[in-house]
Amino acid sequence: MTDRPLALITGASGGIGLDLARCAAADGYDVVLTARRKDALEAAAGEIASRYRVSASVIADDLTDPAAPARIVAGIDRPIDVLVNNAGFGVWESFAESDPTEIDDMVRVNVAALTTLTRLVLPAMIERGRGGVLNVASVAGFMSGPHAATYYATKNYVLALSEALAHEVASAGVTVSALCPGPVATGFQNRSGQGDSLVKGPMTMDAASVARIGWSGFRSGKRVIVPGVANKIFTQLPRIAPRRLLSHAIGRVQDI
Ligand SMILES: NC(=O)c1ccc[n+]([C@@H]2O[C@H](COP(=O)([O-])OP(=O)(O)OC[C@H]3O[C@@H](n4cnc5c(N)ncnc54)[C@H](OP(=O)(O)O)[C@@H]3O)[C@@H](O)[C@H]2O)c1
Repeated sequence: MTDRPLALITGASGGIGLDLARCAAADGYDVVLTARRKDALEAAAGEIASRYRVSASVIADDLTDPAAPARIVAGIDRPIDVLVNNAGFGVWESFAESDPTEIDDMVRVNVAALTTLTRLVLPAMIERGRGGVLNVASVAGFMSGPHAATYYATKNYVLALSEALAHEVASAGVTVSALCPGPVATGFQNRSGQGDSLVKGPMTMDAASVARIGWSGFRSGKRVIVPGVANKIFTQLPRIAPRRLLSHAIGRVQDI
């Protein structure tokens, strides 16, 4: 048993989650990495343990299973100081033509598992008077997204839940942050069916930079973290553009 704090990171087998795990480890946290791909998790844990001299363990599980969050938390035998809810995916397709199972799975991973994990770990953080939850939302959380409707809606949920919880737990010394990246070149684009069409624009950032900005914003108690100037401007559009016009414009871009 070490006296280092512990961070549990979901979706840590690659992409933004792996870089967030590196940031936590660089900051002196032991890490528990979870996702489905055990080999990728073990490779990541090995790299993190040797590079940052912290303990890194893995729990392979599938967050589409409603029992997974409780199983993951039960598999950790020490207090969780930080929960990073990063696992998530999108599907770029017209809603009525999309695979119903895929839509259900997206809601399970992006919304239900994130909510259940947060509910499982938050009471102990409040009792200890420290700790925090970093939820990975998206710039999509600020608006609606025709042709990626469910994905945008899940990220609206993540942003709204995070802001409300941040308010609820602030007096207990616990923080909740929402990291809202724009396009990041990861496995996300292939999984979503976007290809790389949306990752060549001015809003695109690399996963390591997004994670660094997200982790430092979280550690300084920021409630909503939008990395990059272009993304910051983008998230302000709902303040000035009529909702219908904005949906129309997003729908044009997302119809790929
Ligand atoms: N990339 C972007 O443009 C972008 C922009 C804004 C927000 N985001 C958000 O950033 C987060 C990370 O995405 P990313 O870009 O890093 O994509 P990624 O490289 O595809 O990583 C997604 C992670 O989630 C895990 N995951 C997916 N389905 C899972 C399941 N059923 N059970 C457990 N773990 C699962 C994956 O691991 P396994 O496959 O091993 O299970 C992987 O580690 C997501 O919440 C995404 O919505 C991404």
